[in-house]
Amino acid sequence: MIKNNRTKLKKLVLSAVVAANCLAAFPVMAANVGDDYTAIWSRQQAENVALTKENTAPQVNLDFELVAPDQWVWDTWPLQNRDGSLANVKGYRVAFALVAPRSLGWGERHTQARIGMFYSKNGKDWTYAGVPYTYEKALGHMQWAGTSMLDENGKVHLFYTATTDMNANGGKEWNEEGWQQRAEQRIAKTTFDISADKNGVHLTNEGEHQIIAEPDGNYYETIDQFQGKGNIITAFRDPFFFQDPNTGKEYIIFEGQAGNANPLKPENIGDEEYRSTHPVPDRAELYNGNIGIAEVLDHDITKLKLLPPLLESVGTNHQLERPHVVVNGDDYYLFTISHTFTYAPGLTGPDGVYGFVGEGLRSDYKPMNGSGLVIGNPEKDPYQAYSWMVLPNQQVISFINEPKDENGQTKFGGTFSTTLKVNLDGDKSQIVKEGKAGEIKPFGPNR
Ligand code: FRU
Repeated sequence: MIKNNRTKLKKLVLSAVVAANCLAAFPVMAANVGDDYTAIWSRQQAENVALTKENTAPQVNLDFELVAPDQWVWDTWPLQNRDGSLANVKGYRVAFALVAPRSLGWGERHTQARIGMFYSKNGKDWTYAGVPYTYEKALGHMQWAGTSMLDENGKVHLFYTATTDMNANGGKEWNEEGWQQRAEQRIAKTTFDISADKNGVHLTNEGEHQIIAEPDGNYYETIDQFQGKGNIITAFRDPFFFQDPNTGKEYIIFEGQAGNANPLKPENIGDEEYRSTHPVPDRAELYNGNIGIAEVLDHDITKLKLLPPLLESVGTNHQLERPHVVVNGDDYYLFTISHTFTYAPGLTGPDGVYGFVGEGLRSDYKPMNGSGLVIGNPEKDPYQAYSWMVLPNQQVISFINEPKDENGQTKFGGTFSTTLKVNLDGDKSQIVKEGKAGEIKPFGPNR
């Protein structure tokens, strides 16, 4: 009821703004919070996380095929146009994914990660086309996730995480020992020209690789602030390019860790009654995940301004990975993936994709389904898939992670999992369909 009235009011404001300036390309939404507002996923809300029939993923079929037989393949994203719609390159769909040779152990892939390209005519049968950039030019010892955007001039912008330089001279000397504590991350990009013919899709004319954002220590923890805490790994990674359909403004949204400005506060725990009955366990304050945002200041997306985080899970969960946004009418959905092991002491939840709904990009986001959980792995196969990404038409891609066979034996996946479809209805969601492995149907822009 309140929501309906607010929506009507927003529409009125919207039409007044549009009427006042009919040349405006983008309508301007009324914000419901200030520009520096950071929403909270509290311990109290996360207590409600539970698997239900609406959010439990179907069992992964162990008889899966490998999309790139000699590669481990994990975090995946499609090439999108500036407005968020799926790019069509002479009839081809294009996707990128983290890859590492299968000759390496499953657990070794993170420190050898590169970004590989895939293309497909039908969005179901994908061809692996290798790593499109020169490793020596790329930043970081390893390149982590990522999104990609095809601009109106036919340039591909590849955004990625440059993880650990290890060597101030830009060299790639590598020391595996205790790397998690030294895993500095920065947000990088490069560009390519793209072409396609009967032999497939080609990326050429690789641009310079540039760092476009680094943590500031205030909103976002630096590696120096992290070191010595011994808590999992820090984050300043997983850039997601987003053009807000209601303002035309562009942003890079990313996974961060709270800096000095955002220590654990009473609101991170819950309301007064909850706080008086639920003491916070030791070390919970070290679990300081957030969803960061930077405003894009130029057309080529090389100049960014860090803004306060959109959402934080300080005291609740350490990692809000691969955050991304889907706009559905008046509703802004902020999605992120997270793990059981990254919940703060005293809390738990499945490996899954979590969602928060608001009324604008900066918003008083509320957890979907009362808890946040949108898709979770089933209880009896808790690590079967990971790294879900919800696309603007509510298709959800992911990869096969560590499913178990009937004897409880783990099989390593490293390939595309089946695409799921979720239905989003206000603050409720439901898994409604399962498609083919890696399937990406064409989708239009966020609106
Ligand atoms: C999620 C993730 C990302 C990161 C990558 C590293 O699966 O942890 O946050 O970019 O994997 O392998």
